[in-house]
Amino acid sequence: MSEPVTPVTFPPAFLWGAATSAYQIEGAVREGGRTPSIWDTFSHTPGRTARGETGDIAVDHYHRYREDVALMAGLGLTAYRFSVSWTRVQPTGRGPAVQRGLDFYRRLVDELLAHGIKPALTLYHWDLPQELEDAGGWPERDTAFRFAEYAAMVGEALGDRVEQWITLNEPWCSAFLGYASGIHAPGRTDPEASLRAAHHLNLAHGLGTSALRSVMPSRNSVAVSLNSAVVRTVSRDPADLAAAQKIDDLANGIFHGPMLHGAYPRTLLEATSSVTDWSYVRDGDLEAIGRPLDALGLNYYTPALVSAAPEERKAGGPRADGHGMSVFSPWPCTDDVMFHQTPGERTEMGWTVDPTGLHELITRYTREAPGVPLYVTENGAAYDDKPDAEGRVHDPERIAYLHAHLSAVHRALADGADVRGYFLWSLMDNFEWSYGYGRRFGAVYVDYATLERTPKSSAWWYGRVARGGHLPPLED
Ligand code: FCB
Repeated sequence: MSEPVTPVTFPPAFLWGAATSAYQIEGAVREGGRTPSIWDTFSHTPGRTARGETGDIAVDHYHRYREDVALMAGLGLTAYRFSVSWTRVQPTGRGPAVQRGLDFYRRLVDELLAHGIKPALTLYHWDLPQELEDAGGWPERDTAFRFAEYAAMVGEALGDRVEQWITLNEPWCSAFLGYASGIHAPGRTDPEASLRAAHHLNLAHGLGTSALRSVMPSRNSVAVSLNSAVVRTVSRDPADLAAAQKIDDLANGIFHGPMLHGAYPRTLLEATSSVTDWSYVRDGDLEAIGRPLDALGLNYYTPALVSAAPEERKAGGPRADGHGMSVFSPWPCTDDVMFHQTPGERTEMGWTVDPTGLHELITRYTREAPGVPLYVTENGAAYDDKPDAEGRVHDPERIAYLHAHLSAVHRALADGADVRGYFLWSLMDNFEWSYGYGRRFGAVYVDYATLERTPKSSAWWYGRVARGGHLPPLED
C-alpha cells in the first residue's frame, strides 16, 4: 500500500453524502396506502428483533423529511442516498403505481435538489412486499420480474430528476441473512433457498437495470451496492486459503461473477453442489445480469478472517459465527470453514475497525471492473453515543473512524482508483434491523422519545470535510 499523501485533498466533484434506507427511517408504515413488507412482518413477530422493536415510527422521516434535508444542507453535504419503499409505491408488489407513494419521493427529491443535494436512489433496501414473499419470495424466479416492473415505475416517475440509481442494496444480506441464517426478514433457514435467492436477486438487478434504462434519460447512471467481503486468512496454509476462496465465492463471486465477468465462479458451483444444482439459472439469465454497469457501489464495514475448520468442527451442525444471533450459518456448505475475530479496536457492533480493508476493496474493484466509476455507498460505525449535560453529543471515536476510512479512500485515489463519492452510514440514528434501536450509526443523534435530531460532533466534522474537500488533521 502507498504512503498517505499530504495534503489530503479530494477531487472538486467528489460527492460527500450520507445514506439511509426507507424502513430504517420513514415510519408511517400504514399511510398513503402502503402495505406491509417482509420487514413489517418480521419485526412484528415476537423474538425477531431486540426488545420487539419495529420500524412503525422509526425516526418519522416520512413527516420530517424537510427538516432532515435542511439538516444535511446545513452541514454542507452534497449528496444523499435513500431508498424507496416498494410497498409505498406499489402496494402488494403487483398492479399499478400509487401516485401518493411516488409523490412522497418526488417531494423529497425536489427538496434535495432545491438545497443543492444530489439524490442517489436505491430501489431495494430489503423491504420486499409481503405478498411477494407469500408467493415464494426471492427463491422464486417471478420475484425478479416483479422487481423489474417496480423499477420501471419508479424510473418513469423520478428519472427526470434523479441521476444516480442503485438497483439493490447488499443482495448478500437479502439472500443469506434472509433465507439462510434467518436473522433478517423473512427469517428462513434454508441453504438451497438462499442460493436460489441470490440468483434471482442477480436477475432482478439485471432485469431492473434494463427496465430503468428503457424509461430513463440516458445520462442517468445505474449501479448496484454490494457489501463485498474482504476475506483474510490466519495463514497461507493451502487449507486456509481454500477456506478463504469458499467465502470469497459465496460473498463476492456469487454477485460480481455474473455482474462483471459473465458467469458464476466454477469453484462456487462446485462448493455448493451438495445443496443445489443451479438448474434455475436459465438461458439468457447471465446476459441479462451482465449488462454493463454505469457505476459500482461498495459498502464496507469490517474484514473477515477465516481458516480451515479443525476436524471436530467439520462434523457439522448449526453454529454461530459472529454474524448475529442465529445458530444457523449464513454461509451454505461451509462446515469446513471457521471464522475468527479480527484483532484490534471494535465498534459497538463488535466489528473491528480496519480501514485497510476499504483500500483493499477499492483496489480490487478497480482491477475487476476497469473503467467503472466507484462510490463508497456505505461506511460508518455504531458507538454508544449519549448527550452530555448540555445536550451535546461528542463522538470522537466516530470522527477517528471516518478520518481513517476517508484517508484510505484518499490513498486509493492517489493509487489511481476512480472513486467519485463517499456516503456515510448513516445520516442519523435509526432502526438497525434485528438490533432495533440499540445501535446508533448516525452522524446525527436522534432522541427516540421526542424524535429530536442533534448533530453529533462527527456531523460537524464531516460537514467541514464536505465543505473544504480535504481532511483536517485529527486533532483539529
Ligand atoms: C448495512 C446495511 C445498512 C445498515 C448498515 C449498518 O449492511 O445496508 O442498512 O444496517 O449495514
